[in-house]
Amino acid sequence: TTLVVDASKSGRQIPDTLFGIFFEEINHAGAGGLWAELVNNRGFEAGGTQVPSNIAPWTIVGQESAILLQTELSSCFERNKVALRMDVLCDNCPSDGVGVSNPGFWGMNIVQGNKYKIVFFVRSEGPLYMTVSFRKTEGGGILASSNIDASESEVSKWKRIETTLVADTSSSNSSLYLTTTKKGVILLDQVSAMPLDTYKGHGFRGDLVNMLLELKPTFFRFPGGCFVEGQTLRNAFRWKDSVGPWEERPGHFGDVWSYWTDEGFGYFEGLQLAEDIGARPLWVFNNGISHTDQVDTSVITPFVKEALDGIEFARGEATSKWGSLRASMGHPKPFDLKYVAIGNEDCGKTNYQGNYLAFYEAIRHAYPDIQMISNCDASSKPLDHPADMYDYHTYPHEAIKMFNNAHVFDKTPRNGPKAFVSEYALIGDIQAKHGTLLGAVSEAGFLIGLERNSDHVIMASYAPLFVNANDRMWSPAAIVFNSNQVYGTPSYWVQFMFRESNGATFLKSQLQTPDPDSVAASAILWKNLQDKKTYLKIKVANVGSNQINFKISLNGFESSNATKATKTVLTSKNALDENSLANPTNIVPKRSPLQSANNEINDILPPVSLTVFDLLK
Ligand code: AHR
Repeated sequence: TTLVVDASKSGRQIPDTLFGIFFEEINHAGAGGLWAELVNNRGFEAGGTQVPSNIAPWTIVGQESAILLQTELSSCFERNKVALRMDVLCDNCPSDGVGVSNPGFWGMNIVQGNKYKIVFFVRSEGPLYMTVSFRKTEGGGILASSNIDASESEVSKWKRIETTLVADTSSSNSSLYLTTTKKGVILLDQVSAMPLDTYKGHGFRGDLVNMLLELKPTFFRFPGGCFVEGQTLRNAFRWKDSVGPWEERPGHFGDVWSYWTDEGFGYFEGLQLAEDIGARPLWVFNNGISHTDQVDTSVITPFVKEALDGIEFARGEATSKWGSLRASMGHPKPFDLKYVAIGNEDCGKTNYQGNYLAFYEAIRHAYPDIQMISNCDASSKPLDHPADMYDYHTYPHEAIKMFNNAHVFDKTPRNGPKAFVSEYALIGDIQAKHGTLLGAVSEAGFLIGLERNSDHVIMASYAPLFVNANDRMWSPAAIVFNSNQVYGTPSYWVQFMFRESNGATFLKSQLQTPDPDSVAASAILWKNLQDKKTYLKIKVANVGSNQINFKISLNGFESSNATKATKTVLTSKNALDENSLANPTNIVPKRSPLQSANNEINDILPPVSLTVFDLLK
């Protein structure tokens, strides 16, 4: 197999938006993941405004004869009325107290020496004596503790309490305890425990953000996916419920991925994170359509207004109605919102066309520069409605199909809207499991096809981005984590190996191979902003089970320092090998010097591998 690379001609520029990321609130990606809040169901609201509410995963501390827990609609917060009432019945309470505890999202990670800001709202009949502590979930050993005392007059009405806990010891499986040893009645609401050390102080878990930064993503699509649609409209994500002070957000039950979110990671936080990682935000909003119900186009105006208000929230002056709310949240400068998607995967639904046009026209009129994305696939037939881009999703179960998807856009007419491959991944229990090498290499073949078609495909993102290993609702995902660990799947590392393509020059090359169904290759020239030098990068995916003798013939390229040439290989013994929490770096790219790096390179491609050759110009 030979790749002939023609570097003598100028090549074509790949859009600098090509490879980005798609964040969805799925698999506890945000709540219990990227959003560093440790308390799960902090407002006792998970059952909605039903009383008794569902307070899980809060549990009682002490005997039921000593303490009675009930919920009631007595909170001081208008949009989340449920509060927890604790009737402490014991005259001689146990010395380590009675009350409630919260294990967070499968255990809080408390680290020795680290500080945690605890905030909660309390009301009490009588003076308040409470202890706030982190304890080991198993065994109850105390990791950090603080006493809160307040006079009857201070707490006869709702009072905000804030304290800082400093951990004496570490445990990745801890709980927050709110306890007392005094008889009486205590009401609690909106209990938060935030690590003081978060990414840029903005509340994001640093180790997870670092994984994103490594990918150098140029756009950030959020907050879903199906999460935006909802199984039913009443459980869809609505941005207005996710902004403003955290304690006033009502939270909601995401009925597609089946969990409650307190909406700590809301619309504002999505925009903020995009800015923090240097990516352009791409907002997906609900278009009046869920998985099972739809708003009729004749009455869609409130939804259109909601979308326009959302754009004003992001881009409006700090003096505008919604822009001023953004400013009050700490971001007076507008966010750089230029892309919106009108719904998710709704093209086939009865009201899509009508609803879509109502949004399209209103947004075009108010914000002519905003790029709008239709849910309808135009890869094989033209769209029958106006759009700047169209969405394309692909989730094959067979590696060969993923690999050959590289040709999906080869014949698409170039005179219509551009393509946005906003979700792609190999899935299924047989070949993809929790993220196999085979799946990743098949995706690499697909991405090589996207580079080749990047005059038409201008954005692409893998899906989903995150999975909390305790809630594998959808697998695989690119990044796996639990309370204290994180690793990339082979698919993550493939994205890492493609990160230099954004804005690079795509060179003409010709692959001569007897195995077109298993080998794909591309060549780019890219500029390293750190050393200001230009590099040639050749990527070759071999999805087949045989090793391949591979030759690169370089025309019009002379390396200024052939001794610096390297090759980086992503492979493993078996095609279905994976990384895991126990072995997180089983499959990672391995770099080595390249022996012959003049205008001809001879090498061997391992079975099921992605190999990258890097040469300094
Ligand atoms: O990525 C998981 C889901 O797949 C997304 O929510 C949805 O858009 C698609 O069906």
